[in-house]
Amino acid sequence: MTAHLAPVAPFDLVIFGGTGDLALRKLLPALLRRYADGQISHDSRIYGVARQAESDTSYRATVGAALARAVGDDPVLQARIASFLELVAYRTIDATGDAGWAELAAELLAHGEARVRVFYLSTSPQLFVAICKHLRDTGLNGGNARVVLEKPIGHDLTSAAAINDAVGSAFTENQIFRIDHYLGKETVQNLLALRFANALFEPLWNAGRIDHVQITVAETVGLEQRASYYDGAGALRDMVQNHLLQLLCMVAMEPPAALHADAVRDEKLKVLRALRPITGDNAAVATVRGQYRAGAASGKAVAGYLDELGNRDSRTETFVALKVEVDNWRWAGVPFYLRTGKRLAERVSEIVVTFREVPHSIFDESAGRITPNQLVLRLQPDEGVKLGLMLKEPGPGGLRLRHVPLDMSFAEAFGGHQPEAYERLLMDVVRGNPTLFMRRDEVEAAWRWIDPILSAWKDIREAPKPYTAGSWGPSAAVALIERDGRTWHEDTL
Ligand code: BG6
Repeated sequence: MTAHLAPVAPFDLVIFGGTGDLALRKLLPALLRRYADGQISHDSRIYGVARQAESDTSYRATVGAALARAVGDDPVLQARIASFLELVAYRTIDATGDAGWAELAAELLAHGEARVRVFYLSTSPQLFVAICKHLRDTGLNGGNARVVLEKPIGHDLTSAAAINDAVGSAFTENQIFRIDHYLGKETVQNLLALRFANALFEPLWNAGRIDHVQITVAETVGLEQRASYYDGAGALRDMVQNHLLQLLCMVAMEPPAALHADAVRDEKLKVLRALRPITGDNAAVATVRGQYRAGAASGKAVAGYLDELGNRDSRTETFVALKVEVDNWRWAGVPFYLRTGKRLAERVSEIVVTFREVPHSIFDESAGRITPNQLVLRLQPDEGVKLGLMLKEPGPGGLRLRHVPLDMSFAEAFGGHQPEAYERLLMDVVRGNPTLFMRRDEVEAAWRWIDPILSAWKDIREAPKPYTAGSWGPSAAVALIERDGRTWHEDTL
């Protein structure tokens, strides 16, 4: 059972950073899948752009090898690679120089003003300004042009605003697609369906019925090949400012009047603005920063962060846990516990909504403890939804209660390949649907909340707490939630 796939109009997609990791590992494989499903027509064009001189032929060879790795032994996709590569070309352009732009513009504009042109900025954000200026000066920003910005959009509010200003001088807000690939994950969109297409949950979705919410994005990978970016960013900027706050918004927002881009984004913005500030006064109790030491990941011994980085002095956090309060009527007194980190015990991303205890138990002690209901939305590894319910253990005799799951794996329920986030998001850009992208005011509101945490950490001057690679983070993160009489969710169901 797959969703109805409407083909998109033929388009030109220019990927700046076309030889980079994101392009080769995520964007091009996502496009191949959409092509193989017939959603992208053969007269669309995909241009990889980067500084180094390369020919179409050698770029296609690089892309072909990356696609072969990405699709593994899927015979249908393997068979489509050669024909997909006919869409792919390479143009040598140094974003900061003038060479190559006029030729690119002439080529794209010759395809007609009405054709959708997507510029995907998968480069360091320092280049966003230069690229947008060239796109404007060569007239490539008009008509059906759109620009996609990859994170990080800045490293604080001021730098994010500067980027937004510069991009805004070339493109109007409705042409700008700020990508947060978490919003393209199936489970995240399913959160909208679950909340607003079922009458069951919304009446319970408030402080009266919900005890607390946990959002975990745990990774087993370490620095990968991104040492210089990551060490300058850290987990708070890399994951919380965008992915975790976006997930929090999707859980906490009020029902939008319709599934229109601005209606949804208006509601998310209200949540961001209602976040209780974490400042020098409460940062020590509401936040935990960690950094991994040597340990094990996926059964193999791995080095600690400082050795991986080759710099013993770094104080960058590779783990963060936060207790977040949303100061509004719906959520008053309901903590949202957030945690994310590299080199943790498992790769798992989930949202766990824990409901309140029953007001009164009619069962005697021999029935066992009544565990509060829990709704678990798994983003990865196997996407799905699980609802923990108390039921009676089968059998004659006394009555014993058991906490059991109603478990739905999307792959089992719907079969086949669960689409990667970028597949959906790239098609949304071509269609011009910005619902799952961040508006300027959202990005800036998120930074406005993050900045005081960063400056509180700077003032506290504490090194991040060490944790062993392959663990669940520093013990202080356990204390953060246990102080409130709660525990991090473990998949025991
Ligand atoms: C990226 C972060 O945005 O998300 C990476 O920069 C992180 O550090 C990645 O590894 C996680 O994405 P996913 O989809 O693998 O959970």
